[in-house]
Amino acid sequence: MKPIKVGVLGLGTVGGGAVNVLTRNAKEIARRAGRDIVVTHASAKDLNKARICDTTDIVLTTDSFEIINNPEIEIILELMGGTTQAKELVFAAIENGKHVVTANKALIALYGNEIFAKASEKGVIVAFEAAVAGGIPIIKAIREGLSGNQIEWLAGIINGTGNFILTEMRDKGRDFADVLAEAQALGYAEADPTFDVEGIDAGHKLTILAAIAFGIPLQFSKVYTEGITQITRADVNYAEELGYRIKHLGIARKTQKGIELRVHPTLIPHRRLIANVNGVMNAVLVKGDAVGATLYYGAGAGAEPTGSAVVADVIDVVRALTSDPENRVPHLAFQPNAIVDIPVLAAEDIKTAYYLRLNAEDKPGVLADVTKILADQNISIEAIIQKEPLKGETSLPIIMLTQQTLEKEMNAAIAKMEALSTIIGKITRIRMETLG
Ligand code: NDP
Ligand code: HSE
Repeated sequence: MKPIKVGVLGLGTVGGGAVNVLTRNAKEIARRAGRDIVVTHASAKDLNKARICDTTDIVLTTDSFEIINNPEIEIILELMGGTTQAKELVFAAIENGKHVVTANKALIALYGNEIFAKASEKGVIVAFEAAVAGGIPIIKAIREGLSGNQIEWLAGIINGTGNFILTEMRDKGRDFADVLAEAQALGYAEADPTFDVEGIDAGHKLTILAAIAFGIPLQFSKVYTEGITQITRADVNYAEELGYRIKHLGIARKTQKGIELRVHPTLIPHRRLIANVNGVMNAVLVKGDAVGATLYYGAGAGAEPTGSAVVADVIDVVRALTSDPENRVPHLAFQPNAIVDIPVLAAEDIKTAYYLRLNAEDKPGVLADVTKILADQNISIEAIIQKEPLKGETSLPIIMLTQQTLEKEMNAAIAKMEALSTIIGKITRIRMETLG
């Protein structure tokens, strides 16, 4: 049988990694796919740039449409990123009857509903395993391995750059900016690294996970996102003293009232396995009604880990080429006509426990005022500690852990506490989850 020809758009970290995996493991891959798979064409912006993969036998171009319009190429790997030209190219590839494999979570989270509709109309596959959690086959696990379950919730460390920064800050006391620069040099960070540190990238990934877990449309605009830029070393240390670790989590939970979709720094008990996922590693906990809690762990970013996921999708596409397009695994796990628009809860309606850090003047009655405000909002305190002033400061840090409460109650309490003349500056609030 003739080899399958693949065209790669983008030869950077992921494109280079995918080409390396396809080339090095070509024989093993052919044994699995049933056909040889060959990268014949690739595009990049600068053809003179040094590449991490061997491009000797690949026709290179700066015009990706040459590849999209080449009738011999059956599978397109969109590994250039962004949502403008990448979107145009993916739609054009589908229109031309080509299957698409992408690592572009922004594209899928924002335009996936239209992309999958168009792909179904044209009978082609759009595969996106690499878009979430790098090398971890989490899409396949939820979409296929757990398809007998009702998924109750999932929670994951789904941004490698952010986890790398938090780990290096905690373990080595390094500065935020310094670690971010290293993550960029290692190829982990997004083209715009604010996507990593402000929770946007994790929000894109959570959008995708929630869609395949609950059978809902992709709806990034409804995800509550908060990044890691406000986390201080003091909070990391206080959390440790209380038996918790701060991780940046994406959480999707189905409740009686609707679905929670949120990305934010979270205190989790340090004994949990996921609390010990460090560096660029990612992990996703998925709770199904039948299977119970399951945990998936692996490299969340980087050339070959992500290349591994891209190549697995390519093999899946090749295996599915002879199958009836009507009977393939649905793009979003659920049959397109069975996707239900369950309401997504507003952030104010989410219930969780909290870590609070207040800076208080050293005066009698401050604690009484604070605890009264919390009691008036029906918020119960789980633990409270008063610390020594930080070096060079006179105010006393007060650390509190609360029981679960509605976010709107906590917002009201924080506003009242910040209005007290004895409370200095903004109150730090970090949500807590037991993930039990
Ligand atoms: P890089 O910046 O390393 O690579 C992007 C590649 O696309 C480069 O080769 C660049 O060319 C090429 N490119 C950009 N614009 C064009 C264009 N208009 N025409 C032709 N080629 C173009 O990005 P990554 O590999 O890191 O990321 C690619 C995608 O994978 C993104 O969607 C990202 O979110 C996703 N992803 C990244 C992961 C990672 O670990 N880095 C992990 C999982 C997903 P040139 O090299 O000449 O500049
Ligand atoms: N920038 C992303 C991360 C790449 O750091 O997780 C993998 O999706």
